[in-house]
Amino acid sequence: MQEIYATQIQKYQEKIKDTLHSFTKQKEFYKKEVMQAMEYSILSPGKRIRPILAIEFCKMCGGDYENFYEIVCCIELIHCFSLIHDDLPCMDDDDYRRGMPSCHKKFGEAEALLAGDALNTLPFEIIANEYKIGKISAEIAIKLIGEISNAAGINGMIGGQAFDMYSLKMKHFDVQNLNLLHELKTCRLLETACAMGCILANADDKKIEEAKAFGKKLGYAFQIVDDILDVEGSFDDLGKPIGSDKENGKITYVSMVGLDKAKDAARHQTLEALKILEGFDNNELMVDLTLDLLNRKK
Ligand code: IPE
Ligand code: IPE
Ligand code: MG
Ligand code: MG
Ligand code: MG
Repeated sequence: MQEIYATQIQKYQEKIKDTLHSFTKQKEFYKKEVMQAMEYSILSPGKRIRPILAIEFCKMCGGDYENFYEIVCCIELIHCFSLIHDDLPCMDDDDYRRGMPSCHKKFGEAEALLAGDALNTLPFEIIANEYKIGKISAEIAIKLIGEISNAAGINGMIGGQAFDMYSLKMKHFDVQNLNLLHELKTCRLLETACAMGCILANADDKKIEEAKAFGKKLGYAFQIVDDILDVEGSFDDLGKPIGSDKENGKITYVSMVGLDKAKDAARHQTLEALKILEGFDNNELMVDLTLDLLNRKK
């Protein structure tokens, strides 16, 4: 089973990379550098968890996922935008991402800023175009645009990044605050990735809510593991600096409750996520992926 799982994940990753590449083909002279910065970031070796979640939820809900690569890649574009800006000197000030110099190190801050901006709007252009060429209905297009903009914006990931900064100024920051921070900066994009798959498969609202509930649990586990890896991981595996959180004075699960309790919390959230998956047919790959993300080294 493990072999089938790994082969399938690799297949998805290759198709996702090809699709992402198709978005940055035209590089007229005036936008060439920013386009190169976008391309550099989106083609770098990420895990592609978010589009894979969208594909798998589409599949589990009986949808024709092969038709929707452009759309599922939209959530990866938003994610890449968040990473480029997250690494900027005014944010986490990290020099490496996915084993390569971060976007601003390679192209300069202004180019990285604009590359992030461009990746934040491109998804909406792509979705509108998929409607125009008849791949999705207007209703599905609007649902997708609503979900993605809400999850990425001030009520979602960007709000979470704002909270991440503001948390440094708070005198009393408790576990509830930390959970809300994780919910916004990390869970929301993962929830939306799952919801996108269901929407593309024309699933009903109940199924969409279940998918989001799964994404939320997965997201909590995912960010706790990210915080653990910032302490226990290696640069070679992770491709990003270790100890960045401590250096920036960030409050994380590990700094708040210690490594052992953080690991317990990640396991607990993963088990909760697995329970929700039981409500979906053909969930074998998703079960493996959920467990894999708990035990990941990168
Ligand atoms: C990193 O996300 C940022 C977080 C939300 C913790 P990933 O761990 O999914 O990063 P890539 O896409 O694989 O590089
Ligand atoms: C960032 O969390 C989440 C985003 C919205 C980008 P981190 O700052 O911990 O992510 P990494 O560790 O730099 O990938
Ligand atoms: Mg950060
Ligand atoms: Mg960071
Ligand atoms: Mg981190």
